[in-house]
Amino acid sequence: MTRRVAASFALLLLAFGGVRAAHADPPVPKEVQAVLQRIKSADSNQLAVSEEDGRFLRLLVVSKGTKHAVEIGGANGYSAIWIGMGLRETGGRLVTIEYDPQRARDAEANIRAAGLSDIVQVVPGDAFVAIPKLPGTFDFVFLDAWKRDYQRFFDQVFPRLDRGGVFVAHNVVNKASEMGEFLTTLRTHPGIVSAIVSPSGEGVSVSVKR
Ligand SMILES: C[S@@+](CC[C@H](N)C(=O)[O-])C[C@H]1O[C@@H](n2cnc3c(N)ncnc32)[C@H](O)[C@@H]1O
Repeated sequence: MTRRVAASFALLLLAFGGVRAAHADPPVPKEVQAVLQRIKSADSNQLAVSEEDGRFLRLLVVSKGTKHAVEIGGANGYSAIWIGMGLRETGGRLVTIEYDPQRARDAEANIRAAGLSDIVQVVPGDAFVAIPKLPGTFDFVFLDAWKRDYQRFFDQVFPRLDRGGVFVAHNVVNKASEMGEFLTTLRTHPGIVSAIVSPSGEGVSVSVKR
């Protein structure tokens, strides 16, 4: 089985079988695991995605052969490291945007410690301002900023998303009440096909642009 077929199969299992991804392969290199654990230990505000969701993000990136990824709301770099590990396999790049200057600095240091600085670029500042300055189009967008802004970010980014590209949003289950308009968009927008999976109860929406 090729890696691409295996990844798609795993994706189907996750989507329809409710399979938890915490122990899926490939294993994370020890030095990266140490950085991920350090971020989690210091994450008193529980900003970072769960490990299961991190693994799911990596899987999505690999299964789509992602090249041009953007993350909105990078915090300390936890999810960016998972996405970056996927991009190491696809030859892609990630720009992760973080509003809080100290978090952006920490993210940069963590990404460097994980050996992913050649793949992941941290852009400090407000993503509403930073996104228009990014060149080209995107084939993968991961949205994990403040939930009330989800619809506005979708409206901003969707025209820049390639056909077949994926728009992924976090906390669509455990913070659903904070993003009603965006959830309606997921159900009704004619330009996307969407599904919600919940590897760890937080909820991840995956929308493919038609
Ligand atoms: C839930 S945390 C992100 C966690 C991160 N994705 C991870 O899993 O490691 C949300 C982050 O979004 C950032 N944020 C909120 N609004 C933003 C904006 N308009 N532009 C950039 N970052 C923003 C916050 O500062 C916060 O660090």
